Amino acid sequence: MAERVRPLVITIDGPAASGKGTLARRLAWHLGLRHLDSGLLYRATALRLRCAGEGATNVTAAVAAAAAVTEADLTDAALRQPAISGLASEVAAIPAVRTAVLALQRAVASTPPGAVIDGRDIGTVVCPDATVKLFLDARPDVRAARRAADHPDSDPATVAAELAERDRRDTVRAVAPLAVAPDATVIDTSALDAEAVFAVALAVVRRKAGLEP
Ligand code: DC
Repeated sequence: MAERVRPLVITIDGPAASGKGTLARRLAWHLGLRHLDSGLLYRATALRLRCAGEGATNVTAAVAAAAAVTEADLTDAALRQPAISGLASEVAAIPAVRTAVLALQRAVASTPPGAVIDGRDIGTVVCPDATVKLFLDARPDVRAARRAADHPDSDPATVAAELAERDRRDTVRAVAPLAVAPDATVIDTSALDAEAVFAVALAVVRRKAGLEP
């Protein structure tokens, strides 16, 4: 009988603008794995909810929106709008919304050859048995400057305030808050560029997953 190879699952958690999306894409490409940005699931839920003319206070509508999300939703450019960022953080605090998007994330993780999944609770809740867990962090001022650079037409002070509010909501919520898994490797990206973050992370992945250099 053929030996069953366990999918290689790399989780990358961290606050907004810590560099996890860029790192996840690069690691996935380099290692030939799929990449899932789990934040897009909450953003797609928010977009569907807004298109239905509803807000996060309508829990039934929010859960229905989350249950309807498919991978085809995740390429919509509107998901990156600042208004959707705020609403995504609100719907992400609803426990039944989180349950509704769990199956899709676990399906990606369990499909060979494996995946890099980034988010807030991937190493703690979604994939507690992941092969490698990373947690990216950076100083709040550095993250605000990165996010402001992504949105040059926005007021930097407003961008920083919205980021701080989102971090607060993502960290204090009762269900699956942003947290460092006990077995995660923390990388502070404040003083590192994308290339350096990739080099550090790849070395950790190779060591923990037992991959040849
Ligand atoms: O990473 P992002 O900014 O695209 O995420 C959008 C929102 O979704 C953010 O407020 C945090 C939330 N989120 C979450 O609660 N759990 C995840 N695994 C990923 C994102």
